[in-house]
Amino acid sequence: MKLLVTGGAGYVGSVCAAVLVEQGHDVTIIDNFSTGNRNAVPKRARLVEGNLEDKAAGVLSEGGFDGVIHFAAQSLVGESVEKPAQYWQKNLVATLGLLDAMRDNGVSNLVFSSTAATYGEPHTVPIVEDMPTSPTNPYGATKLSIDYAITSYAHAYGLGATSLRYFNVAGAYGDIGENREVETHLIPLVLQVALGHRDKIFIFGDDYATADGTAVRDYIHVRDLAEAHLLALETNQPGIHRIYNLGSGDGFSVKQVIDMCRNVTGHDIPAELAPRRAGDPAVLIASSDKIKRELGWNPKRTKLETIVRDAWEFTRELGDQAHSAKR
Ligand code: UFG
Repeated sequence: MKLLVTGGAGYVGSVCAAVLVEQGHDVTIIDNFSTGNRNAVPKRARLVEGNLEDKAAGVLSEGGFDGVIHFAAQSLVGESVEKPAQYWQKNLVATLGLLDAMRDNGVSNLVFSSTAATYGEPHTVPIVEDMPTSPTNPYGATKLSIDYAITSYAHAYGLGATSLRYFNVAGAYGDIGENREVETHLIPLVLQVALGHRDKIFIFGDDYATADGTAVRDYIHVRDLAEAHLLALETNQPGIHRIYNLGSGDGFSVKQVIDMCRNVTGHDIPAELAPRRAGDPAVLIASSDKIKRELGWNPKRTKLETIVRDAWEFTRELGDQAHSAKR
């Protein structure tokens, strides 16, 4: 298939692009490198550098595209609380432009990178797809608004689309992993402490209504996540918008994640309590039964230990490269 991957230099986007290329697809990536990495772009993919809103129409008008996987977005919960305007512009407005460019050029197969943050604070866990959506932060609100737009485009214009609501993506695939200039995610930060690149990890709040008081998340391996995108792309039907959760179905608290990182790395990893982070729900755990049942998604790396091990291997490799670059 000839595919457009927006945000294909980002963490999840580049793993997905790598898998697509490996499977023989013809991949064009649009990325502005605001958070992505140049060396994460697969060699055999074509790169169009720039903002989605400036590039999508031109690229799609070249013709022949069979589908779009849309990752490009601003995706930090805390930052979205501080800078909502940026999130509405870069997420909602840019995506509306992409949807119209797809429509103008007869491209009707879309996989959209969505998030558990669309649900907000769930009343019960695990979260199933038909639970109420009530985002607790602007990031989740922008992604939910896009889902509404996609549903209406499917009904009115025959778009075939799948929104994948990711829970907490982690791990690495070969030499692609979490490598952001400004890191805010728990597992890569904890591993940077293990590597000696940071002094300690801050635990954002220990007064949540959870067993140990710290927030609980469902961690999913990035390679399993990529697989779900391929399944979605291959099974989209014109006029239908499907929504699936993607998680491992197990919840781990911040303290449990830190302990797992201590076990895997063999390092002490000092931790210090800090206030809660704005916009953080207490517990997010997915039910992914729907995508398993309907698309036959079969995640293979569901253990937190596997996720942390792969992330650690990547982090160490990255640390070694940085070390040799300095010498
Ligand atoms: N945390 C800490 N200390 C840190 C960093 C994070 O205690 O230094 C805590 C957070 O407060 C949160 C948990 O670890 O309770 C996980 O935080 P992350 O920043 O790793 O991930 P989030 O849960 O905030 O968000 C991620 C993605 C979102 C997605 C969400 C869905 O970044 O895009 O998972 O579950 F919406």
